[in-house]
Amino acid sequence: MAGMAPDFDSLSIHRPELADSYLGLLASQPGRPLALFAPRRIGKTFFLDQDLAPAALARGWLPVYADLWLQRGAPLAAINHALEEALDDATLPASKAGKVAGTPVTKLSALGVSVDLGAAPARRKLPEPPELRLDSLVQRLHAASGRPILLMLDEAQALADGQSAATAQALAGSLRAVLHKRRAQVFAVLTGSSPDALAQLLASAGAPMYHFAQVLNFPPLGDEFLKALAEHYGRVHKGRRPLLDDLRRLFERLGHKPALLRDVVKAMSAEGQVDVDQGFAKYLSDERHVAGWRALIDTLGPLERGLARAVAAGLPPLGQETRHELGQLAGLDSPPTVGKVRAALERLRKLGVVTRSGAPQVEDPFLQAWLLGRPPALQDPPALRRGAS
Ligand SMILES: Nc1ncnc2c1ncn2[C@@H]1O[C@H](COP(=O)(O)OP(=O)(O)OP(=O)(O)O)[C@@H](O)[C@H]1O
Ligand SMILES: [Mg+2]
Repeated sequence: MAGMAPDFDSLSIHRPELADSYLGLLASQPGRPLALFAPRRIGKTFFLDQDLAPAALARGWLPVYADLWLQRGAPLAAINHALEEALDDATLPASKAGKVAGTPVTKLSALGVSVDLGAAPARRKLPEPPELRLDSLVQRLHAASGRPILLMLDEAQALADGQSAATAQALAGSLRAVLHKRRAQVFAVLTGSSPDALAQLLASAGAPMYHFAQVLNFPPLGDEFLKALAEHYGRVHKGRRPLLDDLRRLFERLGHKPALLRDVVKAMSAEGQVDVDQGFAKYLSDERHVAGWRALIDTLGPLERGLARAVAAGLPPLGQETRHELGQLAGLDSPPTVGKVRAALERLRKLGVVTRSGAPQVEDPFLQAWLLGRPPALQDPPALRRGAS
């Protein structure tokens, strides 16, 4: 098909200036981490891995990546684990540094950092308590590598998730203390997709993280990505290509999630469909693309199903009018109480249909489009009534 051209899947957009601007900010305020926020699937992890880590290396820093989600409930252990790996890489003789690195990021950190300490004298054991261990590890890694460390803490809301507020604050406090004490040795970037969980930690008055991290909205990809998709489409289809404005509109509708848009454009390309709206409608009508959600929705009761549609349509779930509409659904005979709607909402959150925290939204844009478009669906609120099938 496209000969030497890359395929849709390998199109990737790099944002070195954005990475540099973050590093510049960090360098200008030692001890103060950046907290980058964006909804799920926007490209945070990709950016840390593909743009921020290389930019840090180029500056002579040592990037260390930790996914705090991996050890929910023990985020400091996750950080310590990543630091220990980096320390191994930095202290093992180069020949032995072939340890399989878990992610490209940690692999990067193995590049050229091997400092051969020869027969290093057995060092004092690392302290067991996680916060002391963190402190020692930062110090040792900095000493072994001779470089500033860039600690990239992905999914930092895990600091706040799944534990009591007191525990979360103690954790945040320990992290803050180490990052502050070692500010000449380590910079930190936190990312999160649940602004609510971390904002609570960062912003609630008196919390240890308050005024500590600089909170920034991580920007979604822009036209560059859309142009790359259109260009690639054009290469495959002799110059025919989807319109940029249409792609921009769909990208927005898909919550700026690059993998989703790429999927739709790929499907369009496979069929030679160049009209974006028709392409998306076709995509949604393909049972394979929504089969998973469909199976899930089919297990829901009428109230939950109706509520999912109401949320997809942007109606306030607890509002009186919404409840009145819900009361007209087949299978319900009167408007549900606020308590019932709350319970149903909670179930939808648990199933992942609706965002887990904050104002309820249908998280997956495909699901949202599908919920809204499923005939005879909720084009406008009164249609809730008939859409209950
Ligand atoms: N710069 C980019 N260029 C091309 N594709 C990208 C880019 N960034 C992200 N993507 C695509 O989007 C997908 C999701 O990105 P990523 O996993 O980084 O999102 P995330 O914000 O970390 O999501 P989550 O909150 O679920 O962890 C990637 O697998 C990749 O396919
Ligand atoms: Mg991620």
